[in-house]
Amino acid sequence: MIIDPEALDVTTVYKLMSNTIFPRPIAWISTEGEGGLNLAPFSYFIPVSSNPPCVMVSIGPNEEGGLKDTAKNILLHGKATISLADDANAGRIDATAEALPYGESEAEKFGISMAPTVQGYPPRVADAKAALLCSLHQEVALSGSEQNILFLKIDAFYYADDVIDERHNVRLHNIGRVGRDYLVDSKRIKG
Ligand SMILES: Cc1cc2nc3c(=O)[nH]c(=O)nc-3n(C[C@H](O)[C@H](O)[C@H](O)COP(=O)(O)O)c2cc1C
Repeated sequence: MIIDPEALDVTTVYKLMSNTIFPRPIAWISTEGEGGLNLAPFSYFIPVSSNPPCVMVSIGPNEEGGLKDTAKNILLHGKATISLADDANAGRIDATAEALPYGESEAEKFGISMAPTVQGYPPRVADAKAALLCSLHQEVALSGSEQNILFLKIDAFYYADDVIDERHNVRLHNIGRVGRDYLVDSKRIKG
């Protein structure tokens, strides 16, 4: 079957993309704005360069067609902390996707503890095993799209001591996004 995305509505195109291109890691992004701390998940998220070390996150418009709080804060302050969502916090991700009024903290509302990691960067999810402390590197206007494409430079990697060894081998149990579901406990095979 060949499917022309231009013949479909955007929700169906999202359905095809998000059930086909997977598993996608979940960037649980904390940012700080005028009103305080913001936390939200994003799965249109991928590494794009090791030098400079950069990731891309694609943020759509909010329900009013404006900037989501995460995009607003990154464009305002240039900083973001990306906690990698793992099996242990799978159940808490969806709650933080709720669109709260600007300045209301999802972390506070849903009782998610945050921890300072590197000065000058938003705190990470306290029990995340890994986090990326990032600065805005480049914003790209994708032709024909309403998405805000943000390239974020990793200024520091955070790891809990039990997931990394002295040779920089890292063992994480990240969850993945598949459609609107999550992939947990995915089996690792030798590459
Ligand atoms: C697992 C998951 C992944 C998501 N990925 C994205 C994404 O890649 N881009 C996006 O714009 N919204 C995504 N969303 C929706 C946002 O999390 C949601 O719009 C949220 O309210 C944004 O919060 P903010 O306004 O505080 O930034 C995702 C939601 C979930 C549950």
